Amino acid sequence: MTDKLKELKQKRERILKLGGEDKVKKQHDSKKLTCRERIEYLLDPGSFNEIDMFVEHRCQEFDMKDTFVPCDGVVTGYGTINGRKVFVYAQDFTSIGGSLGEMHAKKICKVLDLALKYGCPVIGINDSGGARIQEGVDALAGYGEIFYRNTMASGVIPQIAAIMGPCAGGAVYSPAIMDFIFMVDKTSQMFVTGPQVIKAVTGEEISFEELGGAYTHSSKSGVAHFIAEDEYHLLDMIKYLLSFIPSNNMEDPPFIMSSDSEKRLIPELESIIPSEPNKAYDVKEIIYKVVDNQEFLEVQPYFAQNVVVGFGRIGGFSIGIVANQPKVNAGVLDYDSSDKIARFVRFCDSFNIPIITFTDVPGFLPGVNQEHNGIIRHGAKVLYAYSEATVPKINVILRKAYGGAYIAMSSKHIGADFVFAWPTAEIAVMGPDGAANIIFRKEIQSAQNPEEERKRRIEEYTQKFANPYVAAARGYVDDVIEPQLTRNKIIEALKISITKREQRPPKKHGNIPL
Ligand code: HXC
Repeated sequence: MTDKLKELKQKRERILKLGGEDKVKKQHDSKKLTCRERIEYLLDPGSFNEIDMFVEHRCQEFDMKDTFVPCDGVVTGYGTINGRKVFVYAQDFTSIGGSLGEMHAKKICKVLDLALKYGCPVIGINDSGGARIQEGVDALAGYGEIFYRNTMASGVIPQIAAIMGPCAGGAVYSPAIMDFIFMVDKTSQMFVTGPQVIKAVTGEEISFEELGGAYTHSSKSGVAHFIAEDEYHLLDMIKYLLSFIPSNNMEDPPFIMSSDSEKRLIPELESIIPSEPNKAYDVKEIIYKVVDNQEFLEVQPYFAQNVVVGFGRIGGFSIGIVANQPKVNAGVLDYDSSDKIARFVRFCDSFNIPIITFTDVPGFLPGVNQEHNGIIRHGAKVLYAYSEATVPKINVILRKAYGGAYIAMSSKHIGADFVFAWPTAEIAVMGPDGAANIIFRKEIQSAQNPEEERKRRIEEYTQKFANPYVAAARGYVDDVIEPQLTRNKIIEALKISITKREQRPPKKHGNIPL
């Protein structure tokens, strides 16, 4: 036994050295932790149970024949985060660049299979040069197996991708199928083809960072959901995100009773919206005042900023919040913000998280660019996502709710459980100026003083339609409320609707416009 134990110890020690001292130093010098340090920081102390530590590659090609790759370049296992079970894998860039071969992929697949079987979230820490070139089609096959499992697990267990180094080639598609992508500013990149290939094919010159850095994907492409200052920050953000979401689609999200009173009135809400209808304000001020203890985790904060989405709690219930942001392009819906809303609503619906919507939307954005880039296709996703969602849906109309965007933003007509309106709400086909110019065109043109007439007609339309009472008279709005009561009204609506069970017609799956 003593010898056997010695052998085990030696084998372990060799594996724990990762790619060797030099490579580990290089990793640290690039402001990166090693895969094992990352797992240790992410999980509750002492909770990590490693599996497949002794897995080895079977590649006989090129230099691989005599190359020992500890853990075949990926550390896998399970543990807990704040006491909740999770599966985790972390690629080891110090071992042939964390590249993915046959056995490396099999290890990741095993973790995905177990996480799915046991109903646990999975966190994948990516730091890899992509397909292990020496392993050829076996590496490609490995990726395929992972993508397939990511798809099977989608909507069943939360899947979180941390990008903590390069993520190149087809490797980006596993994170892309997962639910949330976290990137570290300056030290992580994602791209399908790198700068050299791009230069050769299109002649364009661009740096790694500009092409696929964290800021690019957080603000331009919308690929990343969270950007972190450094690796510790990223891992802390993952833990925080998990506190809002359940471990699988059969569970409810964690309920955390707060000291924040359910009956708390918020008189300040009555002075946030400017009296001039075209003046902007920051909808996040409203969100922060309404949620428990001013805690709000914004998702995609730098992408399509004309809408705000994220997680919070109200009365202890974990909720997803969707809000138009009047401060950015008047809170209009365009193709990017439509995608942002639809994806978020579908995540919340998959994982039993009620959706609270704050509406102040002047419409869909007009323009050739919008039409040609498929605002029809993208806007339809918002309609589809809200309509198909069966979680409690509560909408508070703050100010404008015009036209198709009124319908899309969680209206009664597409299944909202409760629609509340502030007295400042204007629910109409369009704003008073545009409407008066169309329906009173002849009267304005033939008037002795067209400008006077235009003003009079705008005022007439405003009196008639720019209010919540026409919609309330038809029951499209359940109640017109004093803004200071908003938090309390939402909590009461959540309490009554939390037991909601709604069936959809049996089908293989719907065909959301993509
Ligand atoms: C085998 C690889 C590798 C790979 C890196 N390495 N990528 N080995 N296959 N894909 C090795 C390097 O040879 C080196 O080994 C070590 O990892 C560290 O890499 P460096 O280049 O020294 O590091 P760095 O300068 O930081 O550059 C990192 C990098 C670069 C940007 C990721 O390594 C790179 O461009 N790699 C190739 C990326 C790529 O094109 N991958 C294939 C994508 S195609 P030594 O022994 O010198 O330390 C793909 C298809 C998947 O993924 C399709 C799925 C559908």
